[in-house]
Amino acid sequence: MRTRPLKVALLGCGVVGSEVARIMTTHADDLTQRIGAPVELVGVAVRRPSKVREGIDPALITTDATALLKRGDIDVVIEVIGGIEPARSLITTAFENGASVVSANKALLAQDGAALHAAAEQHGRDLYYEAAVAGAIPLVRPMRESLAGDKINRVMGIVNGTTNFILDKMDSTGAGYQEALDEATALGYAEADPTADVEGYDAAAKAAILAGIAFHTRVRLDDVYREGMTEVSASDFASAKRMGCTIKLLAILERAADGASVTARVHPAMIPLTHPLASVREAYNAVFVEAEAAGRLMFYGPGAGGSPTASAVLGDLVAVCRNKLAEATGPGESAYTQLPVSTMGDVVTRYHISLDVADKPGVLAQVATTFAEHGVSIDTVRQQGRPDGVGNEASLVVVTHRAPDAALSGTVEALRKLDTVRGVASIMRVEGE
Ligand code: HSE
Repeated sequence: MRTRPLKVALLGCGVVGSEVARIMTTHADDLTQRIGAPVELVGVAVRRPSKVREGIDPALITTDATALLKRGDIDVVIEVIGGIEPARSLITTAFENGASVVSANKALLAQDGAALHAAAEQHGRDLYYEAAVAGAIPLVRPMRESLAGDKINRVMGIVNGTTNFILDKMDSTGAGYQEALDEATALGYAEADPTADVEGYDAAAKAAILAGIAFHTRVRLDDVYREGMTEVSASDFASAKRMGCTIKLLAILERAADGASVTARVHPAMIPLTHPLASVREAYNAVFVEAEAAGRLMFYGPGAGGSPTASAVLGDLVAVCRNKLAEATGPGESAYTQLPVSTMGDVVTRYHISLDVADKPGVLAQVATTFAEHGVSIDTVRQQGRPDGVGNEASLVVVTHRAPDAALSGTVEALRKLDTVRGVASIMRVEGE
């Protein structure tokens, strides 16, 4: 056992950082045994030095993160600041000064993962980021390492806890979006500005990272098709229930049937209640991975919060420290396949479309013809009087068979132009069948 400690610098000391520091102190002996050397926290870079941080030696606090990294004796830098800058420059400085990096920064990895991996490789250091996707759930390393001998064809997951909480509330109580969001805010799940969560940006960043790992190809945030869940209504849930489904905000990553391209998307979708992801409640995350040899795997657990995220950070810290002692590095970026990322129009999926139509002869035929003209096959049609009692009008709910998304959206565009179609009440993709 080496007695000289490995030196760790912590960048950021918010909810996650303070929990990382606490566990490093309370579990110091265990960590030493598991790593084979003690780890010593030698500096904590923060923006607000005057804030009281229980359990952290005030002598470790600094506002000069760059100077901390340039000491030249740091073995591992833990970056839990989030955002693009200054995190990106600081991580680069860490590599230049001989440190490996553990990061929880999904936005940065989704945007600049390739450059960060290149910098790590250039300096012969590690870049680990288990905490960037789905909090405590071991997912990045199982996909990067345990499944490295298999071929992943599809990943479908709930990777945002806030939106899952909101959708779960809407499903279980019949509440509308705003009411469920207000409850999520009151309970501390949703942030004061919930945009990143409810508009799907957070999930899209995680989708980009997972797609890159799953398909050994470079997938950037801009390659991910994204739709938020703010338009999902109580009546969508009622329709979903009638079909034996619920609604989830899903990240779906797929290899095309011919293997020549991949797609990555985030949007709300109906999934059957029998699908394992349908039973993921409250703010939990779960990711369903389909691999050629392994078959179907599901990873489930808390996807956010100080302690769960710190668990993932500390797992990476142990791994990186072990690599350091072995004078080795872990796996770097694997992007050798360089598969093109197709656009949403090429995705093959099903639609559930709810139309308000005139209730008179020939309307159903006209609607059906529009689907046929766009090469979209109808699976089921259900007609009912308008729930709001509008006379001579009806609600028509059409569920399609699988078709390219471009054909489906072309159909909807054409339906909107029909005189007999008063409005398109909702459009929702149907997945997981
Ligand atoms: N805001 C995220 C969520 C956690 O609700 O899942 C951090 O990615």
